[in-house]
Amino acid sequence: MATTVYVLNGPNLNLLGTREPEVYGHTTLKDVEAMCRDAGKRHELEIVFHQSNHEGALVDWIQEARAKGAAGIVINPAAYTHTSIAILDALLAANVPIVEVHISNIHARDPFRRHSYVSPVAKAIICGFGVNGYVLAIDGLAAMLKPSKG
Ligand code: DQA
Repeated sequence: MATTVYVLNGPNLNLLGTREPEVYGHTTLKDVEAMCRDAGKRHELEIVFHQSNHEGALVDWIQEARAKGAAGIVINPAAYTHTSIAILDALLAANVPIVEVHISNIHARDPFRRHSYVSPVAKAIICGFGVNGYVLAIDGLAAMLKPSKG
C-alpha cells in the first residue's frame, strides 16, 4: 500500500506567521510542517512537505507524487488556486486522492477567492479551520486509505 503523502504549499505561505496574522494566524510554516509530520506518524504515513512561490515547482512536485505512487496529495495552492490551469492539469494527471486546504474561509472573503480551479479534482476541500485544516486533511486521507472493515 502507498504510504507517502505529499503536502504542497503555494506562494506566500513561506511567510505564514507574519503574513496578515489576522487572516492566517501566528503559526509558521515550520510549525505546520511539524504538525503534518505528527499527523503522518499517527497514521504511519510518510510526509513529503514542500512550499514554493513558483507555479512550475508545484507542478513538478505533483508530477513527482504521481511518479512515486504517492498515497495522496494535500495541497494549499494559495493564490494559484484561483488562477492556475497548469496546477489543475497536473492534478488531473496525478491519479491520486487530492485534498484541497485553505487556512482561511475563501468563501467569506473577496469574490475572486470563491472560484477554485482545484476543487473540481479534489476528493475533499477543507477551509476556514486555520492551520488545523492540514491535520484534518491528513486524518481524512488516512481514513479514506484504510481498508474498510465492512
Ligand atoms: C489561501 C487563500 C488564498 O485565497 C490566498 O491567496 C492564499 C492562502 C488560504 O490558505 O486561506 O495565499 O489559500
